[in-house]
Amino acid sequence: MEQLDGKVGVITGAASGIGRAMALTFAAEGMHLALADIETEPLEETAELVRAEGVNALSVPTDVSDPAAVEHLAQRTVSELGALHLACNNAGVSGGGLTWEVDLETWNWVLGVNLFGVIHGLRSFTPRIVESGGGHIVNTASMAGLTSPPGMSPYNVSKHAVVTLSEAMSVELSMTHPEVGISVLCPGWVRTRIHEADRNRPSDPSDAMDEAIVVDAQEQAALDGMRDVVASLIEGGLDPAAVAVQVRDAVREARPWVLTHPDWMDMVRARTERIIAEEPPSVNFLPGID
Ligand SMILES: NC(=O)c1ccc[n+]([C@@H]2O[C@H](COP(=O)([O-])OP(=O)(O)OC[C@H]3O[C@@H](n4cnc5c(N)ncnc54)[C@H](O)[C@@H]3O)[C@@H](O)[C@H]2O)c1
Repeated sequence: MEQLDGKVGVITGAASGIGRAMALTFAAEGMHLALADIETEPLEETAELVRAEGVNALSVPTDVSDPAAVEHLAQRTVSELGALHLACNNAGVSGGGLTWEVDLETWNWVLGVNLFGVIHGLRSFTPRIVESGGGHIVNTASMAGLTSPPGMSPYNVSKHAVVTLSEAMSVELSMTHPEVGISVLCPGWVRTRIHEADRNRPSDPSDAMDEAIVVDAQEQAALDGMRDVVASLIEGGLDPAAVAVQVRDAVREARPWVLTHPDWMDMVRARTERIIAEEPPSVNFLPGID
C-alpha cells in the first residue's frame, strides 16, 4: 500500500508502546485512525496526539479477546471514517511460568488476547479491507514466535500461532485478494510496558481456577530471576518509534516479514538447524543474557 495519505487504519493496543508509536507514525503520513485498547485513558491520550497531526482519530475502548467488541470496532471504523485500508492487530500481554504449572486462567488470558485477538481482528477487518478496495494487515507476533524461550510458554504458543496464521494467510490472499497484503511483525526487546501486562489482567474472581499450583522455592527463585532479567532487557530495548517506522516501510513495500532485530537472526537459524539435525533445544535463548 504505497499511498498512505488519506487512508483509514485501525490499530489495537494503541494506548501504549508499539501500538501508540504505530498510531503516531501512520498519523504523520496523513492516515485517519480508529484506535482500540482496553485502557481507556491512555487510549484517549493517543487519540489526542494523533489528532494533533491534523487527522481524524476515533478512540474505541475494546477488549480484543471479545469477538463482538472487535466486530463493533470494525463497524464503527467504517461507518465513522468511511473505509478500512490498514489493520494492525497488535494488542498483547505476556504471561508464563513453568509450562506444567501455568494455571488455565493465564493460558486463557494470554491466548485470548494475543491469538484470538488477532483472529477476531482478521475475521472482522479483512472483509472490510476487501470492500474498501484493498490495503494491508499487520499482525504483531514476536521473536518468541520464531524461537522457544523457557518460562513463557503461553506467550510463545500465541506468537508462534500468529506467525503461522500470517504465513498461511499471505498465500491465501495472494491467491484470492492480491490487493490485500499482510505482514507479521517479530520484534526482539522493545522499550514498552509489556512486562507490566498484569495491569490488564481480568480481575473477575470467577475467572480464577481452583487449581493448587505448587511452585517450590527453587522454581520461584528461577522464575523471579528470569522476570527481572527480562524487565531490564525490555527497559534497554529498541525505541518503539523505530519499530513503527519499520512497520510503515513494510506496509508501503508489501514486505511480509518485519524483523526489527537483525542480531537475533542467528538464534532463529540455530533453532532451525537444531530441528533439522534432531538436536535438543538450546539454552542460548535470549540475546543479552550470558
Ligand atoms: N515490548 C517488547 O519487547 C515486545 C517484543 C515482541 C513483541 N511484542 C508485542 O508487541 C505488542 C504490543 O505490546 P507492547 O510491547 O507495546 O506492550 P504495551 O504493554 O506497552 O502495550 C500493549 C497494549 O495492549 C493493550 N491490551 C492488553 N490487553 C488488551 C485487550 N484485551 N484488548 C485490547 N488491548 C489490550 C494494553 O492495554 C497496552 O496498551 C504485543 O503484541 C507484544 O506481545 C512486544
